[in-house]
Amino acid sequence: MNELDALVDSARAAFAQAATPTDLENAKAQYLGKSGRITELMKGMAALPVEEKKTRGAAINVAKQAIEAALTERRQALADAELEAQLKAEALDVSLPGRQRGQGGLHPVSLTLERIEVIFGSQGFEVAEGPEIESDWFNFTALNTPEDHPARSMHDTFYVEGGSAKAPNLLRTHTSPMQIRHAVQHVKRYRAALDAGQPMPEIRVIAPGRTYRVDSDATHSPMFHQCEGLWIGENVSFKDLKVVFTDFCRTFFESDDLVLRFRPSFFPFTEPSAEIDIQFQSGPLAGRWLEVAGSGQVHPNVVRNMGLDPERFIGFAFGMGPDRLTMLRYGVNDLRLFFDGDVRFLSQFR
Ligand code: FA5
Ligand code: MG
Repeated sequence: MNELDALVDSARAAFAQAATPTDLENAKAQYLGKSGRITELMKGMAALPVEEKKTRGAAINVAKQAIEAALTERRQALADAELEAQLKAEALDVSLPGRQRGQGGLHPVSLTLERIEVIFGSQGFEVAEGPEIESDWFNFTALNTPEDHPARSMHDTFYVEGGSAKAPNLLRTHTSPMQIRHAVQHVKRYRAALDAGQPMPEIRVIAPGRTYRVDSDATHSPMFHQCEGLWIGENVSFKDLKVVFTDFCRTFFESDDLVLRFRPSFFPFTEPSAEIDIQFQSGPLAGRWLEVAGSGQVHPNVVRNMGLDPERFIGFAFGMGPDRLTMLRYGVNDLRLFFDGDVRFLSQFR
């Protein structure tokens, strides 16, 4: 083997030994660098006669190209190995179960409120919303419950700042103030027609929302929900209330197997008044009477406070508890569970 072939072989061996790109560049310097072996051989040619220079130079160039080719090959091999190692290190195990983002859902009481709105909506009821901080006038006085009325003590009330010393503002104890607020707006819109003795479109509205009382046990929460219903016209009767409410309960509970009972009761803002009880004929609650709402024919004083003539306009109102409806629908026995915010409980209703 001539001297140049041996040089090429030793370069190949040195490159093969280089385990990293840095090692390889150092090995390259020994052969192809400024003071490397090839450069030295080139310098050594200076003393040769012209003819020999030619053949010698060509032979050295062949050796140089072979070493460069070996270098390129090794560089590529090291780069491939590095990429391979990196891919291995960053490999994804696609068989691992993914980390999931928790899937949210509507609160069970929100689901109930949505259902109530859809069902009454299909019977032609509008949906109205009003303030949770209420004045004494709308929460009590306009609803025929004057300051010294004993019925006020049934609502243990949270009073807040604002209003007058005699009649402070409060967190509304029921959604009934919305009867007045909505009716007054409605009547305002049709005032001119009314004054001209023309008919007024009936008031048909529900008003869902939060209500507050100093109350706390398994079926009472200091913050709870109510949904008011109001239907006022020139010829609306208790019969209409029965039809509308029976229809609602049967649709809400998806059962024709329940009966309603209107149990005489008292509210200052209705006369006569009734609690509405339902009884399932089958299922786990069969046979028990369950109170779901208060109701009654709107009191003439309240009709007057709406801006209407009680000799001409008549109607009914009801106020139900969506929290209780939710308990009945899902068989939950403690109302407070709805408001503890425990995801383990709430996620069951998604
Ligand atoms: C009223 O609040 C009347 N405004 C209802 C009404 C409206 C009568 C229109 C006539 C005409 P009552 O206090 O009974 O009535 O409450 C109505 C419903 O709200 C109850 O049947 C019950 O379902 C619910 N409720 C009352 N207090 C609480 C409470 N602390 N926690 C949860 N639900 C409650
Ligand atoms: Mg009641």
